[in-house]
Amino acid sequence: MNFHILTLFPEMVMNGLNTSIIGRAVNAGLLSIEAVNIRDYAFNKHQSVDDYPYGGGAGMLMQAEPVYLAYRAVAEKICGDAQKKRPRVVYLSPQGDVFDQKMAEELAGEEDLILLCGHYEGIDERVLEEIVTDYVSIGDYVLTGGELPAMVMVDAISRLVPGVLHNDVSAEFESFQDNLLEYPQYSRPEEWRGKKVPPVLLSGHHANIEKWRREQSILRTYERRPDLLEKCELTEKERRWLREWTASKNEGRKEEQQEKAE
Ligand code: ADE
Repeated sequence: MNFHILTLFPEMVMNGLNTSIIGRAVNAGLLSIEAVNIRDYAFNKHQSVDDYPYGGGAGMLMQAEPVYLAYRAVAEKICGDAQKKRPRVVYLSPQGDVFDQKMAEELAGEEDLILLCGHYEGIDERVLEEIVTDYVSIGDYVLTGGELPAMVMVDAISRLVPGVLHNDVSAEFESFQDNLLEYPQYSRPEEWRGKKVPPVLLSGHHANIEKWRREQSILRTYERRPDLLEKCELTEKERRWLREWTASKNEGRKEEQQEKAE
């Protein structure tokens, strides 16, 4: 898969993405990541790419033409004649659809993805209308630019590309987990500062381990992200088990409170 990041800060994205798993995948030829400097497409001798907004207001806007020329250079490289086939262009913006695992899975199916990073107060609307296919936000907060969100997206999408994680099982497993959070994990030593590893994990009994992990995932999701639990497919047996577990927990709490009161 090929990522093309249009940015005013190419070093920022490349430095952030050339290490660890993503860097290894690039070296292995599973991914390519290029950062295209929008400033290289500035059309005036000062190489400026921003200007004041019409109608007044705070800050500067990125101008349409350098962004468009940078896009055209990439699109022509990907598609030959950029007019015939339109590449997927994501504009990172707090106004976009909120990025999630499902969107990462969908975008991982693309051969090429152009990520457009804005800065200052944003980009002239006309070029966005012309080239952007998807508006994506990484969450309800405002950052100083689209570079960090682009890096987040590249990381989350890349690990779904076959071969990137080495063990395909782990990405596959996660997607089967659909909306459940991951179960807790433990490594050596068996006892650390008085805390023991749950005995079932040392039992070597694979079916029991799987059952325990699934239950832990359900409990974690129930406690930490109950909104996700509504979207995931639990069996009738699992739903009953969760109801019983929460009922007994509430019972325990009540007893504790009573004991305190006495
Ligand atoms: N640019 C600035 N803030 C952003 C956000 N939360 N998501 C995506 N792009 C952004």
